[in-house]
Amino acid sequence: MPRAPSSTCQEEGRRHPAAIGSLALASRSRFEVANPGKLSMRRIRLCGLDEIPDPGARGFRVTCSSGALDIFVVRVDGHVRAYVNRCPHRGTPLDWEPDQFLDPETTEIVCATHGARFRPSDGACLVGPCRGRGLDPVPVETESDVLYYREGES
Ligand code: FES
Repeated sequence: MPRAPSSTCQEEGRRHPAAIGSLALASRSRFEVANPGKLSMRRIRLCGLDEIPDPGARGFRVTCSSGALDIFVVRVDGHVRAYVNRCPHRGTPLDWEPDQFLDPETTEIVCATHGARFRPSDGACLVGPCRGRGLDPVPVETESDVLYYREGES
């Protein structure tokens, strides 16, 4: 059974990874984007930008029209990127415990299963069994220090 994401709108307490899979997590609020040129696009509020340390990362489950998607947002040197929380090697979640996606130096994303390392800026695998492949990016944006997932662009 796939593991649930590490964070939702309501902060989850630290749990043993084996217990995470049984969590029923709330979906995020959503609304239509006020953009007449892109009526089919919606965005989903993830959190305040200040809720993700720099450097740091945080996992989310977004519920969009195609179903639930586990993603994580990484913030390094003021840059924010988001990826699907799935290693290209075996498809397992990357975090070794909730919101723990980065190595101890907080410079690279590390897969908890076999230790592949990924560059935060583009998700490229630098070392490990999936070298030459990369993480699947997901579209996010910030507005007024709030972070949003943009549905319909991934
Ligand atoms: S599953 Fe990530 S490196 Fe093997």
